[in-house]
Amino acid sequence: MKRLAILGSTGSIGQSTLSIVDSYPERYAVATLAAGRNVDSAFEQVLRWRPLVVSLATEELAAELTRRLRDKGVTGTEVVWGTAGSIACATHADVDFVVSAIVGVAGLEATHAAILAGKPIGLANKECMVAAGEILTQDARRLAVPLIPIDSEHNAVHQCMRVGTAAEVKQVWLTASGGPFRELPAEDFVAITPERALKHPTWVMGQRITIDSATMLNKGLEVIEACRLFDLPASKVRVTVHPQSTVHSLVEYVDGSILAQISVTDMRLPILYALAYPERPSSTLTFDLAALSHLDFEVPDLVRFPCLRLAYEAAEKGGAHCIALNAADEVAVEAFLARKITFPGIPRTIEKVLERTPESHPETIAGVLEADSQARERARNVIAEDASRL
Ligand SMILES: NC(=O)c1ccc[n+]([C@@H]2O[C@H](COP(=O)([O-])OP(=O)(O)OC[C@H]3O[C@@H](n4cnc5c(N)ncnc54)[C@H](OP(=O)(O)O)[C@@H]3O)[C@@H](O)[C@H]2O)c1
Repeated sequence: MKRLAILGSTGSIGQSTLSIVDSYPERYAVATLAAGRNVDSAFEQVLRWRPLVVSLATEELAAELTRRLRDKGVTGTEVVWGTAGSIACATHADVDFVVSAIVGVAGLEATHAAILAGKPIGLANKECMVAAGEILTQDARRLAVPLIPIDSEHNAVHQCMRVGTAAEVKQVWLTASGGPFRELPAEDFVAITPERALKHPTWVMGQRITIDSATMLNKGLEVIEACRLFDLPASKVRVTVHPQSTVHSLVEYVDGSILAQISVTDMRLPILYALAYPERPSSTLTFDLAALSHLDFEVPDLVRFPCLRLAYEAAEKGGAHCIALNAADEVAVEAFLARKITFPGIPRTIEKVLERTPESHPETIAGVLEADSQARERARNVIAEDASRL
């Protein structure tokens, strides 16, 4: 029986993880849950799963949850809060495996603490890999802590790499759906609304990752994540647009063979793979190969989707530029959703922040968080300057 810490339990990945626990009660149990601001969902999850510890983003939210649990007569769950709360969930002595699925750098310290505590990780939170991947992977290797990717592309690469050695890998191909604007002419991008950008053609996900998919910054973050997870230079991590989202990624070997992973478009499968690795439990998540008529692959358009170009440039520089790429995007996506900037304003903001970022390579998590907050400040300034010109 594996007892799980689910960081980001109220989110899309967190809920899919709980549905896997529900389907495999003989294999998995919930030990701790960490959420952000959704007290209603956290309350329901505590009633259903009775975790040892539950964490919320703030002291006030934790107090509200405590009151509601007391009114309901629920005992046995400790309610904690903030970064210290997420860390307590991730490092609890009764936790055997941590699912890291808090969105953004808010999940970074808990993920790092879990690695230092020797807990195997199922990693969905790509932003923490982009911001601090050098530190996280170094510590994981030093302590022999498994980092199993949940992000579907990296999960696919992990699966395809099981059949060869690292030296035999020529390059990896990350597939991208291309998002809802794959065929939209460049001149129409300025009129894209948050409502249109939030409609992803193939996946149902949280807001930030859905907008990142529409700008293709998500694929850029994944390129950096792949470099860190699989110890590859950016030149060996390629992107191909594959609108069907059926092939989740491919690994090309030096002899010319290309291995692809195909499965349903359902995050429960990579989550199950990460939880069960190296085993493969049987599941109902079957793919109907007979219904598959064709597979398309296209070269990504870096002119209409400059975020992908910016991510490759940041990947080459590493350190502060990767941190700034992620931080500037997070601020820009929030501003876009709040209708403060246009859709093309997202890459414009990121590009200006990257230009203003001095090259550096923080060696501690505190240093990463410092560079992150400086990049956010720069992004807010860029947005304010842009707004004043409108
Ligand atoms: N969804 C997917 O299919 C998918 C695929 C690949 C990778 N990922 C990655 O997985 C991560 C989660 O994505 P998602 O789609 O599940 O996002 P989501 O639905 O927006 O969920 C985010 C989770 O993070 C929690 N959270 C936010 N701020 C927090 C804080 N300060 N402290 C503690 N918890 C906090 C949220 O809590 P509240 O809701 O309670 O505020 C929620 O549980 C992201 O890094 C994303 O890039 C997702």
